[in-house]
Amino acid sequence: MKHNKKHFVIAIDGPAGAGKSTVAMLVAKKLGFLYVDTGAMYRALTLKALRQKLDLNDRQSLIEMARKSKIELFQNENHYKVFLDGKEITEEIRTEEVSRNSHFIASVPEIREILWDIQRSYRNNHNIVMEGRDIGTVVFPDAQIKIYLDASVEERTKRRYLQLKQQGIEIDIKKLKEEIIKRDEKDSKRDIAPLKKHPEAIVIDTTNMTIEEEVLLITEIYRKRIKSE
Ligand code: DC
Repeated sequence: MKHNKKHFVIAIDGPAGAGKSTVAMLVAKKLGFLYVDTGAMYRALTLKALRQKLDLNDRQSLIEMARKSKIELFQNENHYKVFLDGKEITEEIRTEEVSRNSHFIASVPEIREILWDIQRSYRNNHNIVMEGRDIGTVVFPDAQIKIYLDASVEERTKRRYLQLKQQGIEIDIKKLKEEIIKRDEKDSKRDIAPLKKHPEAIVIDTTNMTIEEEVLLITEIYRKRIKSE
């Protein structure tokens, strides 16, 4: 990469359960880019607020907590780990309780500002694949590639159901679908950085695609883009 050029960013946005993490991780691995899961950061602060039994409607105490927190993402060839204040929380942030409550953290502008700074700093030294809700719209509006990954609510429910089942967690599929619809609403209707498609985003509907096909499509988009430069 030339010095006068910004590092390459592949921004992947989309609703909960569209399969962003799996695809983003595989694309990053294939291209030798750094994978950054921004949802993990909102989850980490949610976990901390829950552990501290903070009132999730009390924005001021959430902001104070966020200012005093250290979130780190570590990655090597095969592992991806999340640390909060020096302790690993990779597994702990994946519970339904954290999923259900993370909108409280995600809707506080001052907290998003803190996390945006961390997210933007990754580009200083790396080419990155970053996934979330507002990466192409807010974090990196100048990302060289913006992808919006979508899938039907039914398909996203099915995928999440199977994922939970694999972890030995049985959950009512109707309830799960309702939760996903609720999270979609919260993500797309919040005042700050709501989930929306950037006009330049390439929309990929993954409802009938395999993960391999998705990875291939995105890496092809990247190769074409590099060739045309
Ligand atoms: O993608 P995820 O389910 O791990 O995201 C966790 C929460 O963080 C969810 O409430 C959406 C929110 N989020 C966000 O507001 N902006 C991002 N860039 C990533 C996640």
